[in-house]
Amino acid sequence: MKENPYQPVEAKLLEVTDETPNIKTFVVKPLEEISFQTGQFMELTCPGVGEAPFTPSSSPSVKDKMEFTIMKVGGVTQTLHELKPGAIVGLRGPFGKGYPLQDFEGKEVLIVGGGVGLAPLRSLLLTLLEEKEKYKKIMLCYGARSPQDIVYKGCVSGWCEVKSSLDVRLTVDTDEKNERPKGCGVGLVTTTCDSLGLDLKNSVAIVCGPPIMMKFTTLKLLDCGYAPQNIYLSMEKNMSCGLGICGHCMLDKYFVCKDGPVFTYEQLKDIPDIWT
Ligand SMILES: Cc1cc2nc3c(=O)[nH]c(=O)nc-3n(C[C@H](O)[C@H](O)[C@H](O)COP(=O)(O)OP(=O)(O)OC[C@H]3O[C@@H](n4cnc5c(N)ncnc54)[C@H](O)[C@@H]3O)c2cc1C
Ligand code: FES
Repeated sequence: MKENPYQPVEAKLLEVTDETPNIKTFVVKPLEEISFQTGQFMELTCPGVGEAPFTPSSSPSVKDKMEFTIMKVGGVTQTLHELKPGAIVGLRGPFGKGYPLQDFEGKEVLIVGGGVGLAPLRSLLLTLLEEKEKYKKIMLCYGARSPQDIVYKGCVSGWCEVKSSLDVRLTVDTDEKNERPKGCGVGLVTTTCDSLGLDLKNSVAIVCGPPIMMKFTTLKLLDCGYAPQNIYLSMEKNMSCGLGICGHCMLDKYFVCKDGPVFTYEQLKDIPDIWT
């Protein structure tokens, strides 16, 4: 991180890919190298508008560029969606703690994503696949609202093809025009967690998505037999400094920016209203 943690590094926007009607992936080239761990987040500055936290969706092993997959919801994200290649943005970070990869080694790793929540999980998945021999099994369950809302459409079918090391289950909530890809089911993402066929005593589950999806997926995983300490959640809170100073991101005794954003359910289970 820079000496002045509030000073962003300039980054040039190289490429923009439309993922869905309201989600785009941005490839940026920082003008100074930024090292991060998968699961850590960056503050991305849109000059003249403001900054917002996003988790890189690319692997940390790619050093010369970073990818962010961003849903348009408000001021900063709306402006980001209007940028064209060549634009300059700012990056501060990385912040927080990433996924504890050493705790996943030798285990069956279940990744459950909903909507744009697949962004940090894509970074995690790419990282795990780079050293797939370290993990007993890797399984990805992903749910989107409709076929049009599936992110990384090209990659998801590619991931399906590396079946020997990766088991992929896809679902959409609804598919009125019958447009879902081959092998994709219809139903909430929790339905993909039925009959997992995993050794739950030697498995960890990593979940990211909208709060309601995280809530019901966590309940489902507990019901399946996962222990609270083996369920990892990426929590989102309003952020400002990213440094554990301003207090904007407090979740009970935790600073989400510093102690998280990745927490085990064991750490959070006694905190009221964690899903709001
Ligand atoms: C650690 C961390 C990592 C994140 N990673 C990503 C990522 O990889 N990709 C991504 O798209 N987003 C990610 N987010 C969420 C992202 O930071 C917010 O969407 C962003 O701050 C919104 O800024 P804005 O100025 O566009 O919207 P604002 O003007 O701040 O918000 C506009 C409206 O949208 C609502 N809103 C804000 N955030 C969301 C949201 N996530 N979903 C639905 N409604 C929302 C607000 O309540 C408000 O009503 C992450 C958040 C955190 C804390
Ligand atoms: S964002 Fe300032 S303390 Fe976490």
